[in-house]
Amino acid sequence: MVKKGSNVEKFMKIIDKEFLMESQGTRIVKLTILVPDIAAKAKAGQFVVLMVKEEGERIPLTVVKADPVKGTVMLIAQEAGFTTKLLAQMNAGDFLYSVVGPLGHATEIKKYGKVILVGGGVGIAEIYPVAQAFKDAGNEVTAIIGSRTKELLILERELKEASDACVVLTDDGSYGRKGFVTQALQELLEKSKYDLVYAVGPIPMMRAVSLVTKPFGVLTLVSLNAIMVDGTGMCGGCRVSVAGKVKFSCVDGPEFDASQVDWQELLTRNSVYTEQEKHICRLHNAG
Ligand code: FES
Repeated sequence: MVKKGSNVEKFMKIIDKEFLMESQGTRIVKLTILVPDIAAKAKAGQFVVLMVKEEGERIPLTVVKADPVKGTVMLIAQEAGFTTKLLAQMNAGDFLYSVVGPLGHATEIKKYGKVILVGGGVGIAEIYPVAQAFKDAGNEVTAIIGSRTKELLILERELKEASDACVVLTDDGSYGRKGFVTQALQELLEKSKYDLVYAVGPIPMMRAVSLVTKPFGVLTLVSLNAIMVDGTGMCGGCRVSVAGKVKFSCVDGPEFDASQVDWQELLTRNSVYTEQEKHICRLHNAG
């Protein structure tokens, strides 16, 4: 772990910051951070846990891109709770308090054949490195990316470059096709045989993807890093039931076979955290 105050604190410097989008009170921020040790090792599917300030909480973020030569990693976060809002207020030249990683098992990259990657909302950022790695391994990659509305769509150009085909959808029809990613997924699976589906997005979306793929019997992986708290196997916050066994997303995942995940339990647990997060925001706003 790299911590502020250590003689290597310069390694947590924010090199670049950019808002990828700002719409309807939602902002998605892209940060490039100098963390050479992490940049040298990070692989597709892995994440870091960072603290913006010493007194703050830890948040997990997927490594969207790692540049071992420059020693930087790119992270993308959507302002959702107190800490992601704090992170979005940081600027180039500022330092983070701590960054731990790379964490989690890397995605198993091999030649599956025909692969569909499904990204919803900020989950698009998480499928991007996986799409690139699958493509480099010789797979035929189709990306399906979706957001609520046009302004919330991120990394479209990058996903198009990293895939053989890319289907873009918005819930309100303001860009691309109108509809949900699951509709496009269903159509593709009905037309052709695929060897793997890989999905990242809100939990209801990943659950819906799992329901769509089940009748086709196609292996479906989901990344559950959005539900973590400390990311180190200590807090139990990322507990998930997979094939009837208790697993921790941070150390056993973050990827799991979607057909084996107890989605109802996961949705219930996550809604508890959402309420707690709203409470924390209210307290800070009042203070
Ligand atoms: S995030 Fe705490 S145990 Fe996984």
